Amino acid sequence: MSADAKKLYIKTWGCQMNVYDSLRMADVLKPLGYAVSETPEDADMVILNTCHIREKATDKVFSELGRLREHKQNKEAKGEKMIMAVAGCVAQAEGDFILQRAKYVDMVFGPQTYHQLPEMIVKATGERVINTDFPVESKFDLMPEGQSQGVSAFLSIQEGCDKFCTFCVVPYTRGSEYSRTVSGILDEAKKMVKNGTREITLLGQNVNAFHGEGLDGKAWGLGRLLSAMAEIDGLERLRYMTSHPRDMDDELIEVHAHPKVMPFLHLPVQSGSDNILELMNRKHKADDYRVIIEKMRKVRPDIAFSSDFIIGFPGETDQDFEDTMQLVRDVKYASCYSFKYSARPGTPAANMKNLIHDKIANERLLRLQALLVEQQIAFNKACEGLVIPVLLDRKGKKAGQLQGKSPWNQSVNLIAPDRLLGHTLDVKIKEGFDNSLSGELDLQEVVLAG
Ligand code: 5AD
Ligand code: SF4
Repeated sequence: MSADAKKLYIKTWGCQMNVYDSLRMADVLKPLGYAVSETPEDADMVILNTCHIREKATDKVFSELGRLREHKQNKEAKGEKMIMAVAGCVAQAEGDFILQRAKYVDMVFGPQTYHQLPEMIVKATGERVINTDFPVESKFDLMPEGQSQGVSAFLSIQEGCDKFCTFCVVPYTRGSEYSRTVSGILDEAKKMVKNGTREITLLGQNVNAFHGEGLDGKAWGLGRLLSAMAEIDGLERLRYMTSHPRDMDDELIEVHAHPKVMPFLHLPVQSGSDNILELMNRKHKADDYRVIIEKMRKVRPDIAFSSDFIIGFPGETDQDFEDTMQLVRDVKYASCYSFKYSARPGTPAANMKNLIHDKIANERLLRLQALLVEQQIAFNKACEGLVIPVLLDRKGKKAGQLQGKSPWNQSVNLIAPDRLLGHTLDVKIKEGFDNSLSGELDLQEVVLAG
């Protein structure tokens, strides 16, 4: 960071979309002289990029704002300014409330407005700014190209959601579905590969609902886009998230036969009970999900799955919960996220009756999590002794170590020299742990890669 650069501190909560958006905000602010700082002390601008998906999000934002306020006051005591901004989904949903309650906050703006940041900052020097528009123009096309994100990187291709699951705030905070054009995505991907990226994860709230303008002017689905991405020289691995079971069309399923498409899919089912799936407005049954899993395993026998689950949704009976447990036993997951239902203001489920007692929800969640952890450990243990291609994408925690990713998205730790960063090498897996693997390189290979 140069001495006269302005310090920008961004704190990010929530999903990978937010992580990506934060990187992009830093890019937008760079031409204005802002350089990213890891700490908020003495920052010229602080952005909290927030998440509204589950409870207590707003509380967390206010306690963080309280802590940051001290830094702002210290700076003001020196006659300097600190712009305090709240971005992301809490800003979108509760912008007015934030400005009312935290008088020292200068700016509040939603996820669709990040390309307007420079104008908003100029405005914020004179007045407090609130911007929770859903502009017609897309922020994707108006934001500058990013800095290199490294060996394994994210690329946002779709945003918003039209599904309206009854528990979810995303359709309200992120707006309706929007897809980028295929040419814009391919151009960005090629630049990323030039800068050293070897693995790209395509991002979207509902990524497989993607229907962007294709190279032939017609709408392309995600399957077609992935085929086109796979043609890019130097790009070795493709992933995407997060998907909805209803949008797993045949073209997308088939593209999983391609060696560049990694054999791991995060496909949230939320519940294994048809009654609950109906109340959630998921518009598919548990067996539809089982059929998709089966089809995918036919196309790609080594594919592994992960999912999200919500436990204690209003009306969930013992039998509904047992149906979820059975689905988990049937699918056998590699890793999963599971959450206790939390009512989000403004969503249809927030008005539902038959609330589940906290004690029961907690018991069910513990039982489900015990099963999921058991499956995850079994999956990692089953890798012991295998030789698998690992993309070495970062330095390890200990000196002399590198970390990489297996095809199934597991972290693999191994001893390896730094010069191998960015390479995909065969690694023999020594041990499978709860959350990672350890392995060793074939020495002959190291000579070849050097
Ligand atoms: N309560 C609990 N979990 C939720 N999720 C989304 N909304 C809620 C809610 N109101 C979970 C879903 C989703 C993940 C990102 O967060 O499982 O897939
Ligand atoms: Fe939320 Fe459902 Fe849309 Fe996913 S598909 S973002 S859970 S409404």
